Parts: sequence; C-alpha cells; structure tokens
Amino acid sequence: MKKSNWLFTILPDVTHTTLAVALSTVGILLLSLALALTGWNTVGMLISLVIGLITVRTVMVVYWSSQDMHSRSVELIESARAAEEHYISVLQRIVRFAELRQGRDIGRSERVGNLCEDIARRMSLPKRQCHLMNLAGQLHDIGLLTVPEYILKKSSQLNGNEFISITKHPEASCEILRPLAMLDEVLDGIRHHHERLNGSGYPDGLNSPNLSVHAKILAVCDVYEAMTHDRPHRRAISSLDAVSELRRCCPEGFDADIVEILADIKHIPVLEEIMGDAQLKPKPEPVYASN
Ligand SMILES: [Fe+2]
Repeated sequence: MKKSNWLFTILPDVTHTTLAVALSTVGILLLSLALALTGWNTVGMLISLVIGLITVRTVMVVYWSSQDMHSRSVELIESARAAEEHYISVLQRIVRFAELRQGRDIGRSERVGNLCEDIARRMSLPKRQCHLMNLAGQLHDIGLLTVPEYILKKSSQLNGNEFISITKHPEASCEILRPLAMLDEVLDGIRHHHERLNGSGYPDGLNSPNLSVHAKILAVCDVYEAMTHDRPHRRAISSLDAVSELRRCCPEGFDADIVEILADIKHIPVLEEIMGDAQLKPKPEPVYASN
C-alpha cells in the first residue's frame, strides 16, 4: 500500500486502516464531547470518555497488528533470500564437480563469473545486474551435467549426435536454474551464451538484435576463458591471442564493444597499437568454440 499522505510521512508505519479508524472515532469523540458540554448531563460525558478509550485501544491494536505483519513479511523475505543463497551455494559446489567431470580446471566458472561482473560494471549496468552476471557466469554451464562424460572429454571431432547433445546444455542450464527467481533477469543470457551475433550459434540461432546484453557478455567471457585454459582437444593460448581471436570474430560472432572492454581489463593494447603483431594474422579456423 503506497503511503504518500503527509500523515504517513510523520507516522510511516501506520496503515490506512489504522488512520481511518482513528479519525472516525476521534470525530465521534469530539461530537459526543460537544453534546456533553452544550447541555448534556454527566452520562454524555461518560459516554464520550468510553468512546475515547475504545478509540485509543482500537488504534493501538491495529497499529500493533500492522507492526507485527510488517516484521513477519520482512522475516519471510529474509528467509526466502537465505533459502535462495543456500540453493546457489549448493549449485556452486555441483558446478565444481561438473568442471572435474569435464576435464576442465577447477575454478573456470568462477573466473567467467568474475569477468562477467567486471565487464557489466564497466558498462554501467545496475549494481544488482552486475551481481547477477557473476552468478550467471558461475552457473551458466551447469547444464553440461546432462551431457555424457565421454563427449565432454572427447579430443577428436564430435559426430552429429554428439554435437546435438552438446547444443542442448544451455537449455538444460535454464531448466536447472529456473526455480531461482532471483536469476530471472539473466536467465535469457544463460540460455543464449552460445549464440553468435550473425545467428550462427545455438540453441535458437538468434542474431544480434534479438540477443540481450547478458548473452553478449557471457558469450565473450565464456569463449575467452575457454581459449586461455587447456581443454582435452587443445592447449591454452595467451590472453593476447585470445583477444585477437575475439576481435577477428567481430562483429559476426561477438559484440566489438564488449570485446574491447575485455581487452582493457586484460591490459591488451588497442588494435591499432599491435597491428604489426604477427599474432594478429588471420587463422584458418576459429578456435572460439566452447561448451
Ligand atoms: Fe556453455
């Protein structure tokens, strides 16, 4: 209930019901007093006194009730928040086991989360969304638990069915995380962290106008972390090479502004300063595929 009246400014915890009861009974009290003072006898004054006492008692009961309801609602909100945080901590532990299962280094998801938050802050996203981007980065690949381990660790080319199995993991992540209401704002980013700006990604083949900033940030951070750490099928490359590869894949694959923010975070010189670097030469095959 919105409290815009000046009375609510003075008494912020008093509800509309309390005030209605108070004002109407005070009115009756004043009327009774007026009648008593203009000719009514002692009985009239006694009636006024009784009404006054009832008024005070009623206001106090309603006020205490509203206070009690307010504190209960605060307790419920805090309990719900604590339950969600507990759920997230459980999921974070599951993600660590999932990383081991994938043959990845422990901590990759945490690094993706921190990088997502750094970029979100530099893009001046609201503080809450920056925090949510960290959680999204930590949990976005939890759906890989649904992919058979031999596929995750396969060092050779995936066949058709194996690749299809991989492409389903963003949807699986969303299904696992959907009960967490606090992640609603970034759930679309989790679903679309393997989309590419030209529509060549998965699972929905969305292009740039249809992708959220959350999805674009997650895509860049996910691929950067994948490239800069060893995987079963290839060795890690340097930060400079990874950023160069990301730049090479802009704007078809990734958001160029986000890639430049990442480059700045990683202290990679701007493109013009390293144009002569041999590492910037185009590579025959992009290495940005991640899962
Ligand atoms: Fe993924």
